[in-house]
This record gives sequence, C-alpha cells and structure tokens, in this order.
Amino acid sequence: MAELPTGTVTFLFTDIEGSTQLLRELGDGYASVWKQHQLIIREALAAAGGAEVGTEGDSFFAAFSSAPGAVRAAVAAQRGLAAHVWPPGHSVRVRMGLHTGDGVLSGSDYVGMDVHRAARIASAAHGGQLIVSEATRALIEHSLPAGARLRDLGKHRLKDILQPEHLYDLIIDGLPAEFPPPRTLEARPNNLPLQLTSFVGREDQIGEIRELLSRVRLLTLTGPGGTGKTRLALQVAAETVRDYTDGAFFVDLSPVTDPGLVPAVIARALGVAEVAGVPILETLKAHLQHKELLLVVDNFEQLVAAGGVVEELVSTAPRLKVLITSRVVLALRGEHEYVVPPLEPPDPKSIGDIETLSRSEAVRLFTERALAVQPRFRITTDNAQAVAEITARLDGLPLAIELAATRVKVLTPQQMLPRLQGSLSLLASSGRTLPGRHRQARAEPVQAAFGFQWWLDA
Ligand SMILES: Nc1ncnc2c1ncn2[C@@H]1O[C@H](COP(=O)(O)OP(=O)(O)OP(=O)(O)O)[C@@H](O)[C@H]1O
Ligand SMILES: [Mg+2]
Repeated sequence: MAELPTGTVTFLFTDIEGSTQLLRELGDGYASVWKQHQLIIREALAAAGGAEVGTEGDSFFAAFSSAPGAVRAAVAAQRGLAAHVWPPGHSVRVRMGLHTGDGVLSGSDYVGMDVHRAARIASAAHGGQLIVSEATRALIEHSLPAGARLRDLGKHRLKDILQPEHLYDLIIDGLPAEFPPPRTLEARPNNLPLQLTSFVGREDQIGEIRELLSRVRLLTLTGPGGTGKTRLALQVAAETVRDYTDGAFFVDLSPVTDPGLVPAVIARALGVAEVAGVPILETLKAHLQHKELLLVVDNFEQLVAAGGVVEELVSTAPRLKVLITSRVVLALRGEHEYVVPPLEPPDPKSIGDIETLSRSEAVRLFTERALAVQPRFRITTDNAQAVAEITARLDGLPLAIELAATRVKVLTPQQMLPRLQGSLSLLASSGRTLPGRHRQARAEPVQAAFGFQWWLDA
C-alpha cells in the first residue's frame, strides 16, 4: 500500500448512505455487502496511488499526493459501486468528498483543519454523489477522468461552522446526476455563529446528547468554566439542524445581566420584532408556538431568575427543544442535566506509543492549536511525555489546553512543563465565582495554574 503522503495532500472520505437501514434489512448479509464495497474502494485506491488512512464504521478515509489521482480513484469507486450487483432490491450508495490541503501527520493520523474540512465535505454529499472543495477543483479541472465533469454547487456552510466553502460535484456519465441540495447548514434556517478553530473529538458526547434530545425537550449542559459546553452545544446544533424544520438558533446571554431582558434577547436572536403594546414574551410565544426548532441558550448561570421564561416557551411550543449551557443546573420544570466532561487526557504514567497518545482527544486539541501557531509542531518521542503531562495536569480542560498550546510558539512542551504548577482542578472549579464573563476573566484560574503571565502575550 502507498505510504501516507505529507505536504499538499488530497483527502478522500466516503460513507455508505442509510447504512443503519441496510443493516436492518440485510441482517447478517450486511457484512458481505460491506466487504464487497470495501474491495471496490480499495481497488480504486490502489489503481490511483491512494493510501488508506483508515476505516471507521461505514466510512473510508484515504490520502493522495496527487489531486487528479484522488479524483480518478473516487470516480472509479463510484462507477464500480454503481456497476456491482448488490442483493436484490438493494443498492449501496456512497457519499464521497475530496479536499486538498496540508497533510500533517501525528502518529499515523492526520491532524489540522483540512482533514476536518474534508470529512465535513463528504458528509454534505448524498449517496452516489462526489463533492469536491474549491482547492481540489483548481487542481483537477484540467485533468478530469474521461466522462466526468464539474458542476458548481455554490457556497455552503458546513457542519464544522467554519468559513463557508465553495463546493462542486462531479457529474459522471452513466451515473445518477440529480441530487437534492447538499446536506449543509443552508438546508435549514439558523444563526449559528462562525467558528475560527476546528472542533475536536466528542463523538460519544454528541451521540449521547442527540439521543437525549430525541426524548427530552429541555436539556442543560453543565460543567465548570472552559470545559467546552458552548462549543459542544454549537456542534450538536450544527449536526442536528436538519432534524428541525424551522432550524436552530443560538442565543448568547453572556452580555446580559438583567433577567427581565431575556425574552427580548431571545426574540432578537430569532429575528422576532417587538409589537407595540404587547409584552415581548407573548410575541415570542406566538412566534414559537407552531415551530419545530432547536433553541440553544448559552450562559444561563448568571440569569437563573429568568428560568421561568424557558419553562413558558417549552410549555407553549410542543415541538420546541431547548439546549441550555450553564455552569450550574437550573432546576427548571422538565429540565434534564448532562454534565460535560473535560477532554479525556492520557495517563502520563503509561503514555504508550506516539500513535496511541496522538489519539487522545486532549492531545489532539493541544496538537491542533499548537499547529496553528507553529506549523512545524509534531508529537515526537522527545516531547510526548511532556505533552501528556501538560494535558493531564490541566485536567483535560479545553480552555486551558488551548492557552498552553499557543505557548508552543516560544517554548517546547518540555520547557513549559516545570512552569505549570500543580493541578488545575481546584482552581477551575472555583471559576464560577470569578467576576465577569470575559475570556480574560475566565482565563484567570488558568493563569494562576501556570504561575505567571507568560501565556498572556500569546
Ligand atoms: N471539542 C472541542 N474542540 C475544539 N475546541 C474546543 C472543544 N471544546 C472546547 N473547545 C475550545 O475550548 C474553549 C473553551 O470552550 P467553551 O467556551 O465551549 O467552554 P464553556 O464550558 O462554554 O466555558 P464557560 O463556562 O466559560 O462558558 C473554547 O475556545 C472552545 O472553542
Ligand atoms: Mg460557554
């Protein structure tokens, strides 16, 4: 098999559409279908010089040093899958996505924004569709495989909530070319704010929260400052927005100190105008009454007195779901609590090989943020122990890990470690009583744990 390329790399992600249903219908027969699908994709990869990075569930991840090679493999795989004779009454439709960017290896895994992008691009495709990013398009447009051409799909916001991406799909002679609009955020109304950094891990928590939201209508994500409640709530909203006809809306309560203003702030986020002479809460209730919508209300802890507003909205609008983030549980009628754990740090006493270490979510976050300030940063045998200890001493707290990682610009992890005093847990749990809600204030316990100000000028 080809070696994993680095430098400019084209990433291919594939995923079987409707695999849960296929599995239900085919039972034991699914294993052989999966195997055949795997053979077809592997053959296409091998013929075009692709390197298989891994498989997970029903998806495939491969990397290519050549973008035209990647598109040749993907087109050949779609052709092979379409030509194959599947069990009667079934077809195996695979969504595929290609994106070209920085191929940075940590162990045998790629890290960095471009891998995330590629995965999100694939997830925007429908079964049988091959979507490519602008970066890939520019590299393949003059060397497309025979019988394939590009179609412009326009700009789209992907589920990573990063900058919108210009997308194209490939029309392949003889294969279906009509697809619904891409599965992107545009599919539903929303005001989810743009994120500037990649989202790391949390697959289990996202699964659990999605499951809970399918059963309960008022869910509060709790946890100390910086544990990742807001980021997780936003990611859940981005990934589930398609489940809500009327979309997903984010309400930031951090600048609000007067509980009486909460209805007006929610109304503004939803684009609901005030009506003269009518209390805004009544207008809001009338607006939401028949809507199927996910409302994410961020930073409720300082406005506990306004909890009744949420209770009223939930009881008025039967298809409304509310996802709250708060450092404390609010004790509202019908409220369920989900405690957001920090990112699992590695055990510094047995870090294992670099491969295993690089898979820890806390280490991945450290690596991603270190790469943003120091593109040459890698986990090596020299720094592995120090990185493991830093993330563990910071208790896997994402905010603290991010702050520490930015220091890689001037210090190696080995130099950083002795400056990190004690554990952060006590300091972090007292974060709730800190004055104000600004980042600087939130960072205070982290700053204390580091002993001095060296992270401030990051
Ligand atoms: N899974 C993740 N992937 C990438 N970045 C993350 C992740 N979780 C948290 N972060 C980052 O860590 C920082 C802290 O996270 P976040 O703001 O969500 O914490 P919080 O629990 O909402 O804190 P607070 O109680 O102060 O509001 C943010 O910069 C966020 O982007
Ligand atoms: Mg928050």
